[in-house]
Amino acid sequence: MEVVINIAVLASGSGTNLQALIDAPDLGAEICLVVSDRPEAAALGRAEAAGIESRVVPWGEYDSRAEFTKAILGEIEQAGADGIALAGFMRVLSGELIAVYPNRVLNIHPSLLPAFPGANAVGQALNHGVKVTGVTVHFVDEKVDHGPIIAQSAVPVLPDDDVATLHARIQVEEHDLYPRVVGAFARGKIHVEGGKVRWS
Ligand code: GRF
Repeated sequence: MEVVINIAVLASGSGTNLQALIDAPDLGAEICLVVSDRPEAAALGRAEAAGIESRVVPWGEYDSRAEFTKAILGEIEQAGADGIALAGFMRVLSGELIAVYPNRVLNIHPSLLPAFPGANAVGQALNHGVKVTGVTVHFVDEKVDHGPIIAQSAVPVLPDDDVATLHARIQVEEHDLYPRVVGAFARGKIHVEGGKVRWS
């Protein structure tokens, strides 16, 4: 299969979305680098098992968000990434990343944005008693869990759900949606016009 673009994946945790991208049969993109802010992130083991280069950029070693972002940007640019997929990356990056990669940084979030941005989106949905929540993939802008929405998938909230059961069902959708969106992005099928996304 022809590789269209290189993408860097940023992950802080278990990396199941990274795994879904690795396992996608027709992603149309090569994962050229995995970056984590946490040396113990299981995502790094997934990268190693798949033979993908990885780097740890520890948050605590930098004086500011801008310095941290600059270090990550350096790694990503050196790896020749054309785009970036955030996959459970728990640090907010400074605007410099978006300046260098405008409409080329994707994020996946476990709610139907703009509802429930930030941490514990699944718990927030349960606390509000919503009957439907879901998954959003969006381009990243300067605000947290904000930017042009690319795709969403709805997940019903069941009466007996807790955070673990609901998040597990949301993740099933995530693992289907993210590779499809990254694949479309890689093939140049996602366009931002007037702050909104159009698919071609
Ligand atoms: C996912 O639910 C994603 O939506 C959110 O963080 C979680 C990461 O999960 N941003 P994983 O590390 O990919 O398993």
